[in-house]
Amino acid sequence: MNIDFKAPVLAVDTVVKRFGKTVAVNGLSLDIRENEFFALLGPSGCGKTTLLRMIAGFEVPDEGRIRLAGTDITEQAPEKRPLNLMFQSYALFPHMTVRQNLAYGLEMEQLAKSEISARVEEMLKTTDLQALAGRKPAELSGGQKQRVALARALIKRPKVLLLDEPLGALDKKLREKMQLELKRLQNEVGITFIIVTHDQEEALVMADRVAVLKDGSILQCGTPQEVYERPANRFVAGFIGVMNFIEGEIGADALFRAGGEVLACDHNGLKRDQKAVLAVRPENIVLKSDGTGIAGTVVDVAYHGLDRQLYVKTTLSAAPLQVRLAATGAAAAQTGAAVSLGFDAAACRIFQD
Ligand SMILES: Nc1ncnc2c1ncn2[C@@H]1O[C@H](COP(=O)(O)OP(=O)(O)OP(=O)(O)O)[C@@H](O)[C@H]1O
Ligand SMILES: [Mg+2]
Repeated sequence: MNIDFKAPVLAVDTVVKRFGKTVAVNGLSLDIRENEFFALLGPSGCGKTTLLRMIAGFEVPDEGRIRLAGTDITEQAPEKRPLNLMFQSYALFPHMTVRQNLAYGLEMEQLAKSEISARVEEMLKTTDLQALAGRKPAELSGGQKQRVALARALIKRPKVLLLDEPLGALDKKLREKMQLELKRLQNEVGITFIIVTHDQEEALVMADRVAVLKDGSILQCGTPQEVYERPANRFVAGFIGVMNFIEGEIGADALFRAGGEVLACDHNGLKRDQKAVLAVRPENIVLKSDGTGIAGTVVDVAYHGLDRQLYVKTTLSAAPLQVRLAATGAAAAQTGAAVSLGFDAAACRIFQD
């Protein structure tokens, strides 16, 4: 077990936010640690932005408290909070150069000119913007504008930086590059990041911990690996990554069966003689050459470069099962081929909700 001695820098304590009849955030609690890269993940409308806006001070919770480094900030004005919310629309000043955009926030704080200039130059360097310092926003690409917005938020040295879908406007390639860059920057400046995304892959790549939200509540909070490998419930299992679901039941003997086959054993407090669903990832299904597994027919093969995704029709489920194979091992797996599937029982999860 990992024991973490870092104190929470931000504590969200049973916070509720309603808009008329809509409960946007529903009694949510969350502790964010110092220097953590934390991702809030969930489908559209689950309350991610509302939560960030309450942390930033643009909304006041109907119930619950928010504390920053031990101080209650629930009702504190946004500009008084030592944190910064970076919106998706970067809101750069169009008439100012990159350098002037960065300096602006520090000028508002009325810092000494020499300090402003030193911090601006340092931030230009950190964010690799030196060559662009004299340009105006209109002369920058989307990714460059993104970096300027980030630099402008970081230069004020907030305790916590809140980022709402910061990479939403970027294309896939640039997005992936910026994901790594954000992670590097966060490491370098040592500021706590809370990032909102509805892209689960992005959350897995960047975050130290991830919270999966649904209907204003947290369904699971953990490291990317925990959430991916040990999803707490069916929703999380289906939301993160690709998952096969097999509907079946737990028999009186506590074994899971579907389509006339016994698949995996689980005594983990599951009720017997009840319907259940088994969740297994494509990479946890293997092709068995000895023919002892579940019989199936390959109905489709999707080529992904490094690996192949097979779609295999079996009696277990109406939808074909997705099976991921290394490209080298996939030679036999042509469309129409009869195959035999084995499941990695330790990697299967069974849910009854
Ligand atoms: N100012 C508001 N007035 C009324 N309802 C609101 C307001 N802001 C948010 N809501 C509602 O609260 C719920 C949560 O909204 P929120 O913007 O927090 O979702 P989200 O998780 O950020 O979604 P998305 O991924 O689409 O940005 C939604 O049902 C939304 O319609
Ligand atoms: Mg939102």
